Amino acid sequence: MDTKMDTKTEQTEQTGQKRVLITGCSSGFGLLTAVRAALAGYDVIATIRNPAKSEGLRSALNRAGARATIEALDVTDERSIGVIVEKYSPVDILVNNAGFLIMGSFLDISHAESRGVLETNYFGAVRLTRAVVPAMIQRRSGIIINVASLAGIVGHPFNAAYAASKGALIGFSQSIRLELAPFNIKVACVEPGYHKTEIIGVNANLCENFYDRSSPTFEYNRGFLRLMMDRIIPRAAPPEAVADKILRIMRTENPKTHYVIGRDARFAKASLWLGLGSWLEKKVIDKLSTATRRENRKELARKTKRSRKTAGD
Ligand SMILES: NC(=O)c1ccc[n+]([C@@H]2O[C@H](COP(=O)([O-])OP(=O)(O)OC[C@H]3O[C@@H](n4cnc5c(N)ncnc54)[C@H](OP(=O)(O)O)[C@@H]3O)[C@@H](O)[C@H]2O)c1
Repeated sequence: MDTKMDTKTEQTEQTGQKRVLITGCSSGFGLLTAVRAALAGYDVIATIRNPAKSEGLRSALNRAGARATIEALDVTDERSIGVIVEKYSPVDILVNNAGFLIMGSFLDISHAESRGVLETNYFGAVRLTRAVVPAMIQRRSGIIINVASLAGIVGHPFNAAYAASKGALIGFSQSIRLELAPFNIKVACVEPGYHKTEIIGVNANLCENFYDRSSPTFEYNRGFLRLMMDRIIPRAAPPEAVADKILRIMRTENPKTHYVIGRDARFAKASLWLGLGSWLEKKVIDKLSTATRRENRKELARKTKRSRKTAGD
């Protein structure tokens, strides 16, 4: 096994190509980062949870005229992590990008659903980092880029488990940044605001009890969804800027601890810095209440129309 590792190290060093391992490359930031890194000449190991979903990445690479190795990797699966790390260690740059969310009030999200979010977004990154770092320590070099979120700094109503997972990832990054500094391993955290990717598209999940009318938060779940559909998703930024930033971090000698990306995220962070946190909270609460009232009015109109139709039948 040692010989195999030495040969791989030599190959990487001879070509001068740095090896980048990225998780969650079937869409969004992961896919864009994989293509950009491959174009920039990195030896990219682009991993995908479900190999059946690799077509998008494959055609994006083809369109760009770039090459990357595509592998299956579910970050919740210790065995699958072991296989990838054994095959591709040593890795120069690790991008912990895989993540997902489940929407719904914290009262309506089940414990199992919450745990599932933490299992991928936080423990998935921790597991993979622990597997990759020993070889980085041996070589006294490496970069770890964790894709967290603005939600980890300011919270996220109706996405509490997601915000908690990203807050944990930020805390993890800040901590290991110090632990790994003596080994010349750099750790950076990317904290984007809303960007148009599948996480707020086809990958967005509602918790199982989202529409449970007996829940005290039922109306607000629906109001929050209305707010997402009407205001947040249409205004979300294009995702390319995040991939560009990740690529810049890969090339940076001394990356910063935090990279806040997107106008919404910078605005929120600046508001906090200026001591305007309560003002920001009030704005969010007002918007949620307006969206909930609008959704309730719509439902009432739908009900009235239905009962008129029934009466006319
Ligand atoms: N877009 C935003 O507004 C935004 C803002 C802040 C932070 N982020 C973070 O950015 C990262 C990338 O998300 P995105 O916005 O690019 O959304 P996306 O298009 O939905 O991409 C998420 C990726 O993560 C993968 N994934 C989910 N669970 C996984 C698992 N257990 N193992 C391996 N891969 C898994 C998904 O694979 P499948 O296709 O198999 O589901 C998909 O490839 C996430 O960590 C997200 O939380 C996004």
